[in-house]
Amino acid sequence: MGIFEKLDELHASGALPMHMPGHKRNTGAFPWLAGLAERDITEIADFDNLNDPEGLFAGLERRLARLWGAGEAVALVNGSTLGVLAGIISTLASGGELLTGRQSHRSVYHACELAGAEIRYFTQPFDRDAGTALSVEPEEVARRLDEYPGVRLVCVTSPTYDGVISDIRSIAQICHAKGRPLMVDCAHGAHLGLPGFPEGCGRYADITVLSLHKTLPCLTQTAAVLINLGLVDPGRVRRYVSMLQTSSPSYLLSGAIDGCAEFLEREGPGAARTWRAGLDDLRARVSGLSNIRLFDGGGAFDYDPSKLLLRCDGHRLAALLREWYRIEPEYAARDRVLCMTGMGDSAASLTRLAEALTRLDPLLPPPPPAAPVPGIPVRRLSLKDAAALPGRLVPTERAAGRVSGEYVWSYPPGVPLLVPGEEPDRETIDAIMSADNLHSGHKGVPDSIFCVDLPGKV
Ligand SMILES: Cc1ncc(COP(=O)(O)O)c(C=O)c1O
Repeated sequence: MGIFEKLDELHASGALPMHMPGHKRNTGAFPWLAGLAERDITEIADFDNLNDPEGLFAGLERRLARLWGAGEAVALVNGSTLGVLAGIISTLASGGELLTGRQSHRSVYHACELAGAEIRYFTQPFDRDAGTALSVEPEEVARRLDEYPGVRLVCVTSPTYDGVISDIRSIAQICHAKGRPLMVDCAHGAHLGLPGFPEGCGRYADITVLSLHKTLPCLTQTAAVLINLGLVDPGRVRRYVSMLQTSSPSYLLSGAIDGCAEFLEREGPGAARTWRAGLDDLRARVSGLSNIRLFDGGGAFDYDPSKLLLRCDGHRLAALLREWYRIEPEYAARDRVLCMTGMGDSAASLTRLAEALTRLDPLLPPPPPAAPVPGIPVRRLSLKDAAALPGRLVPTERAAGRVSGEYVWSYPPGVPLLVPGEEPDRETIDAIMSADNLHSGHKGVPDSIFCVDLPGKV
């Protein structure tokens, strides 16, 4: 019996809940909770505990591991963010550096800050025309592992937010030959491995983090960590998951993971084939347009066709899609729009998008040049030390020569322009002043940046 069925049975039984949550499934008194509260319980007898799975959830996790071909799986209700935090902290809390790409998601940086670990970077080729980072080259990972002997974990994002896939099988072989575990931030690739989509990485990487909610039929916040035994201790990963995850994991979310797993087992391959066919049709219609240029993954090791990275006048296209066609893109910046498709899309929804793009193309100007990506600023202090120091907001124009005490992100996708401990140079300052969708831990960007007070240099 599925978790939702079991919850429905409990509700129908008339059992009196003398436990949390406080709504007591009384949707008559709280009608705004109708359709939700009936299935919202806490860890009562016979309903297991997601943070210490023995019954219901142990079965669910075995199912997840089977689906993605991994040794073990941990179900999460705090997103891939939690999986990344637990994966990195469990490996680096006892020391060592992380090797990763600058394009990593903010959770990777936060994990290093919390673990007190330094970050080393590999470089990645960049497609200036498409304005996106290409695949991580296995030889580059090998070179950097030789250059940085203190690295204890490698983290690769694949697919990226833009859909670029790296050769994880080869990168894993290199890491393993050098005795280092590989973690893949596969938050955007839970659907990989299904028919019509590139191969996933669950059987190659030591730790794989997947957001079920990004591309599969599941609820926001649902995710999983896959672990392959050998270089990583699953017990340590679980320990940090249960430390960092709420002690009251929502049954609405864990039940949704259960339903998603059941669906994937029964109907996943067929649904993926239908999705892929719709994507092929959409991509064929849109790929010849003049002012909306669809990225086809050229130059990358592989590409996730479900992502539609459109180089165009991004703000104008997003506004027209929204106002004229009631279509809301995932992300829009000055030079691009990203539309995300998912297993819940239908032939009709993909056709509706293709038609809107085809009609809007002649109304748009040619795409502006892609925004340049600044180099990595010089590090003056460790991430952990800089994040702990007092400081003040400094006008961005005058921040050169200071040391940042905060992150400055372009969000989404959550890739940093500046990290605590780095000294912003002219290129970084220009990038911050012209970037879209900026966020920082301290308000003030883009006009000011939180910089640390260096002892004797205020
Ligand atoms: C590359 C990448 N990794 C991790 C995450 C975090 O995922 P979640 O939203 O499931 O916490 C995101 C979120 O957008 C992401 O883009």
